[in-house]
Amino acid sequence: MVNLKGRDLLKMKDFTAEEIEYLVDLAADLKDKKKKGISVADRHPGKNIALIFEKTSTRTRCSFEVAAHDLGMHVTYLDPAGSQIGKKESIADTARVLAGMFDGIEYRGFEQSIVEELAHYSKVPVWNGLTNESHPTQMFADLLTIREHFGYLKGIKLAYMGDARYNMGNSLMVTCAKMGMHFVACTSPKYFPDEALVAECKEIAAQTGGSVTLTSDAMEGTKGADVVYTDVWVSMGEPEAVWAERIPELSPYQVNKKIMDNAGPKAIFLHCLPAFHDLKTKIGAQMGARFNLTEMEVTDEVFESEQSLVFEEAENRMHTIKAIMDATL
Ligand code: CP
Ligand code: NVA
Repeated sequence: MVNLKGRDLLKMKDFTAEEIEYLVDLAADLKDKKKKGISVADRHPGKNIALIFEKTSTRTRCSFEVAAHDLGMHVTYLDPAGSQIGKKESIADTARVLAGMFDGIEYRGFEQSIVEELAHYSKVPVWNGLTNESHPTQMFADLLTIREHFGYLKGIKLAYMGDARYNMGNSLMVTCAKMGMHFVACTSPKYFPDEALVAECKEIAAQTGGSVTLTSDAMEGTKGADVVYTDVWVSMGEPEAVWAERIPELSPYQVNKKIMDNAGPKAIFLHCLPAFHDLKTKIGAQMGARFNLTEMEVTDEVFESEQSLVFEEAENRMHTIKAIMDATL
């Protein structure tokens, strides 16, 4: 019997396959209730949660806020500039202050060590809303979306294209290994995930029937894939200067029609979002003009195609974050 009361969600490595599946099941149930108009506001009435965002967000913030309201809770949002955190007050002190007022704390920011320290000093659950190294809440939305489409997780081949060294590549690799899925990092060797983490995930996969493969051959890596996944080439907090190397180095790993045609017959496209698939954003337009591009990690054609489930995936952020809070509070 899975019991997650009082647990933090800091990284996927901390959770067993059974616990992960339990949260995906709970999210599916909460989603079903929401669609049927069945209220769950009596689950956590009067509780309060704090949302700390040291980086910007649309999906994660809105998911926590809507999910909290649906569960009968109140929310306080601390924006990247509006608190003392890190500037006038240490993480350890912040954790002890907030834990005295709130029932749970979400943190989005920079190093993983910060969220780990926050959890260490907090007596209430801490949820990682993205660090440089991991993005665990995103994983549950991705698993729910994959399971809704295919009906199962074990044996699914997920090809990840682009910067596989960062939060999304790391978290997907760990998640796939745990769930008996086949993870392929399909990118230039410079962007392969950390060797020690790869070795650890290979060991986990050997137990679960999954696998971890690294390849720089885009066609071989995506051949027959069930899920083709990508993320932005430059992540939040990275220096502006890296754009000039990322574009030429990662362009061969753009998700386009040729890649999707090479994938499996029921293949879907996923992206944690936001995505640069056209020039309709400030940064997209700037980089488009600077590097003579109209799209980056994914073509507009694939992004807007029937195979793209990115908006279902985005909606699933809310249902899965609701499950995480419901289970841990
Ligand atoms: N996918 C994701 O975390 O989106 P936000 O940055 O909008 O929260
Ligand atoms: N790798 C991206 C993910 C955004 C959800 C970033 O860290 O900016």
